[in-house]
Amino acid sequence: MYRWSRLILILLCGILSSSSAEARSGLKDVLGRYFLIGSCLNHHQSAGRDERATRIVDRHFNVVVAENIMKPGPLEPREGEFDFRAADELVAYTRQHGLALTGHCLIWHSQIPDWFFRDGEGPASRELLTERIRRHVTAVVTHFKGKVKGWDVVNEAIEWDGSYRRSPFYNILGEDFIEIAFRAAHEADPDVELYYNDYSMDIPAKRQAVCRMVRRLKERGVRIDGVGMQSHVGLVYPRLNDYEASIDSFAACGVKVMITELDVNVLPNPDQFGGAAIDQSYEYRQKWNPYTEGLPADVEKQLEERWLSLFEVYYRHRHQISRVNLWGIADHHSWLNGWPIPGRTNYPLLFDREYREKPVVKKIIALFRGQ
Ligand code: XIL
Repeated sequence: MYRWSRLILILLCGILSSSSAEARSGLKDVLGRYFLIGSCLNHHQSAGRDERATRIVDRHFNVVVAENIMKPGPLEPREGEFDFRAADELVAYTRQHGLALTGHCLIWHSQIPDWFFRDGEGPASRELLTERIRRHVTAVVTHFKGKVKGWDVVNEAIEWDGSYRRSPFYNILGEDFIEIAFRAAHEADPDVELYYNDYSMDIPAKRQAVCRMVRRLKERGVRIDGVGMQSHVGLVYPRLNDYEASIDSFAACGVKVMITELDVNVLPNPDQFGGAAIDQSYEYRQKWNPYTEGLPADVEKQLEERWLSLFEVYYRHRHQISRVNLWGIADHHSWLNGWPIPGRTNYPLLFDREYREKPVVKKIIALFRGQ
């Protein structure tokens, strides 16, 4: 009799502790079986000054990326003068918290100082710009050797219609700037992974152009490991079948697919709004900021359904995807409160303004458990 009751007790304890372990598990414990899962960190957070954010990171994430401090402007504000202090703090943070680090980003036309493209009063020559790309990429990749798993080498080089963006890089060097940057990064650290990253990757013309670029780089013997789909999405855009087709196409080009800057914009936007070009900006109007006191139940429901459909896509494609990275920890951290219209109240992330986990997080975990 005694033996039986002891056995029952042991069994009960086992069931209870495994179900409480289930209740405690974070996104990384379950989604992490298939891909890295993480967030960007702002400077305050990567300096370890946002304890509540750190608790979320510890529980849910196994990879992070700098929201701003590893971009060309912050790292090389003046030619040849590098400032690695903030980014080094981030590296220390990743080591302390056992996180992988993605480097974002080496070559991008935004958040880059003007000196990059100028020579005195005039534009830089082909030779000068080539040299500057090489020097910046070499210095930065060398500095973070062994500390970064992979780099967004080039960010946003292709337009929605598949043409190359007329950025100063393109205007001076044509598409060659892409290969120059990838080669320099590989030479500086042969072990680091190299990615191309862009937004609106669901658009067929853009998808095809990115695939062409990946294939061309590979044919020319240039290393490229992954394609990042930024995924600044809304409640109704993109259409998920287009989005999935892009995941399939990139995977078919033989690269890893990464969801790199995921957030869901719930606010109404001007008709002309689209994509994620950071120079888009519209004047504030009350009608574009309807939810300052919280989301109405129907929008909340729509938002939760959208999160679940997105993660259903990631579940279906879990063998092609190597990383899912959110663009911020909690709603008030998101750049979408300030872009493309300043001063709004948006709800784009998985944690609310009090750092509370939204109910959808448990549902995402259950989805990946196959429940
Ligand atoms: C954004 C940051 O979130 C903002 O803080 C900053 O003011 C502008 O850049 N695509 C990218 C990211 O690749 O680097 C951008 O991040 C968002 C769009």
